[in-house]
Amino acid sequence: MPGIVVVGMQFGDESKGAVVDYLAEWADLVVRYNGGSNAGHTVVAEGIKYKLHLVPSGVVRGKRVVIGAGIAFDPEVFLEELEDLKAKGRKIDLLISKKATLVLPYHKELDAAIAGGRIGTTKRGIGPAYQDKMSRVTGLKVMDLFSDRFSERLLEVLKLKEQELRSSGVLKGNIEEYYREIMKLSEKWRRELASFLGDDFMEVNEAIASGKFVIFEGAQGTMLDVDHGTYPFVTSSSTIAGGACTGVGISPLAIDAVIGVMKAYTTRVGKGPFPTELTGDIAQYIRDKGGEYGTTTGRPRRVGWLDLPMLRYSVMINGIGYVAIRKLDVLSGLKKLKVAVAYELDGEEVKVAPPYVEDMERAKPIYEELDGWNVEDWDELVKKGWDSFPSEARDYVRFVERELGVKAILIGVGPEREMTVSTSYLKEIIEL
Ligand code: IMP
Repeated sequence: MPGIVVVGMQFGDESKGAVVDYLAEWADLVVRYNGGSNAGHTVVAEGIKYKLHLVPSGVVRGKRVVIGAGIAFDPEVFLEELEDLKAKGRKIDLLISKKATLVLPYHKELDAAIAGGRIGTTKRGIGPAYQDKMSRVTGLKVMDLFSDRFSERLLEVLKLKEQELRSSGVLKGNIEEYYREIMKLSEKWRRELASFLGDDFMEVNEAIASGKFVIFEGAQGTMLDVDHGTYPFVTSSSTIAGGACTGVGISPLAIDAVIGVMKAYTTRVGKGPFPTELTGDIAQYIRDKGGEYGTTTGRPRRVGWLDLPMLRYSVMINGIGYVAIRKLDVLSGLKKLKVAVAYELDGEEVKVAPPYVEDMERAKPIYEELDGWNVEDWDELVKKGWDSFPSEARDYVRFVERELGVKAILIGVGPEREMTVSTSYLKEIIEL
């Protein structure tokens, strides 16, 4: 049984949640390894919609789930999510890594004050929390909450950060008062979180060693990776498949396959380059039909044609052999579809996207045009399976497979679990 990583190939929002939910049928363990409540993973199953931010998507199928050390963990968001999951009747079998980084109220306020407008962040405190983790002197981990020294540590951290908090306008009053507010919240967090605390590295490594099927669920997308994305317009974590190793504490040898998740087109939230971006009627058509508004923030997403140079980059740095293509239904009704097969950059033809802001801004997509399809009712086709899909839709997928050198295992034509169809390649994953 395998360890597989499910990773976003574009700018996030590829519907990784739905893909993880689909594959979780065979999984023993589902593990989140990066990011925090900036992620919005949506799963729609048996008529119920789950909007997950921190809890891995395997929870919807009642699987054991792990929040890894690489996560920026916001106790407030987590407890709200837990309530919602319980109200929806989900069984909670969950472990939170002691090593996860704590997101505290001031991280969210700093995020909004500093990076919110400049980078277009989700204002969930992710950047500032990871910044403190990396500084080591001001970082706090989930396990610190349970230490006898927490109160002392928090006060020390707040004093170290006082100048920053004041100059950014986050702290206006007395620092001792601010400290007492957080201490009060922390009492609730300790009570509610204690039973979930554990050693993610131990549990996950033991599961792998005993041949269990473990899914590592990535958040955001490859182009938002802090090192490999379009820096600085990225998130603050390692979103790529390698992030699973560092974010949980597993060997690269524990990963048997990497499944890339991509939309049939491209979207991006927030600032940063986007070579195939569309404006006008087609953009609005795709945005409305695809419900392209942020799960976490409600912001309208920027929309564009499929970008193969970007996806080739993603295949390369993640080691993607299989893909899940989502939202193929959204393109339905468009007579002709454009796909960027290369970029023209300073007179040269480039096949793999250079992940540099200035190059991406200058890159001019070279398009190929493919025939569209027009399907009103996907339910019938889904029941009959992948081979019943219109030949133009199958050609579109085959074109992507050929160009990227990957196999498509799942095709999504709606958010509900039953609106995902599998191809014959799926068994290569579940029989690994
Ligand atoms: P942050 O992760 O909140 O710091 O935001 C940094 C950038 O990543 C912004 O452009 C966000 O819109 C983007 N981003 C963060 N999380 C997600 C996500 O889950 N989906 C899509 N974009 C995201």
